[in-house]
Amino acid sequence: MAPLADAVAARNRAVADAGRWRSARALECGGVRTRLVDPGHPDGGTEVVHFASNDYLGLSQHPEVVAAAKAALDTYGAGAGASRLVVGHRPVHDELEVALGERAGTEAALVFPTGYAANLGVLGAMVAAGGRHDTLVVSDELNHASIIDGIRAARAEVEVTPHLDVDAVADALATRRRRHAVVVTDAVFSMDGDVAPVEDLARVCAELDATLVLNEAHGVLGPVLPRVEGCHLVVVGTLSKTLGSLGGYAAANRATVELFVNTARAFVFTTGSSPADAAAALAASHAALGSVDGEDTTRPDHVPEETTHR
Ligand SMILES: Cc1ncc(COP(=O)(O)O)c(C=O)c1O
Repeated sequence: MAPLADAVAARNRAVADAGRWRSARALECGGVRTRLVDPGHPDGGTEVVHFASNDYLGLSQHPEVVAAAKAALDTYGAGAGASRLVVGHRPVHDELEVALGERAGTEAALVFPTGYAANLGVLGAMVAAGGRHDTLVVSDELNHASIIDGIRAARAEVEVTPHLDVDAVADALATRRRRHAVVVTDAVFSMDGDVAPVEDLARVCAELDATLVLNEAHGVLGPVLPRVEGCHLVVVGTLSKTLGSLGGYAAANRATVELFVNTARAFVFTTGSSPADAAAALAASHAALGSVDGEDTTRPDHVPEETTHR
């Protein structure tokens, strides 16, 4: 036997030797113009303009979004205090879920603490509903880690298909030996930046009785959603990128959202998102859909100068 602590040190050395050692670097404030904190630097840090965030529209700094979060803090305090099904649910969660459902064009939506949790919760609940030995998951080879982890946590039977290959998806569905099937794909792929053939996938799912789970995490100027009659669609998204806040959601027909409320472990067994995060996301979704006070909020350069150095 050997202590696991030795393996920890060895693993860290291996990561460093491979040139893959990473640590989080602090930025002094939000916005794209800020300072990289460095206590050894005579000015306490280096001025930078960064292009690395997922806050694509700059909404995390939008005055209306920040004001909504502050108002929610004043009204509700900092944390939700419990899981949503216990006492962690506030009216602002309802308002946000209505707005997200409308945006996705579905009957209902449910907010999760993060987009990662939403994928975990959705896949786990769908596979458990179908029965894990009776449900095949078909997953694009370049899907996000949260999808991969969701499939693993669900202990699902999985067929990984070549990137963007609709024929391979159709083949996997048509030849499956399981009764049920879930096709899961990113809408926009994080690393390559390409877009899934969502209409074709939805058509194949409708024809071959599969649910389509579309991970619409990177929606910038609106969701990339298929409109195909007869397709059982679950849209997963994040509030943490374009909407500049923190959280995730799943949008679908009412029965499917009710399934998530009752059986998605990443919803049931975790604290509700903070009211301030929910309020910020709600204000941001209004801003992303048009203008706030006459200002075109959909332009990435709309962030007022004074809000970039908060
Ligand atoms: C494609 C994709 N899906 C899901 C997530 C997870 O979202 P969140 O950061 O809200 O957990 C991310 C980013 O982190 C992502 O890029």
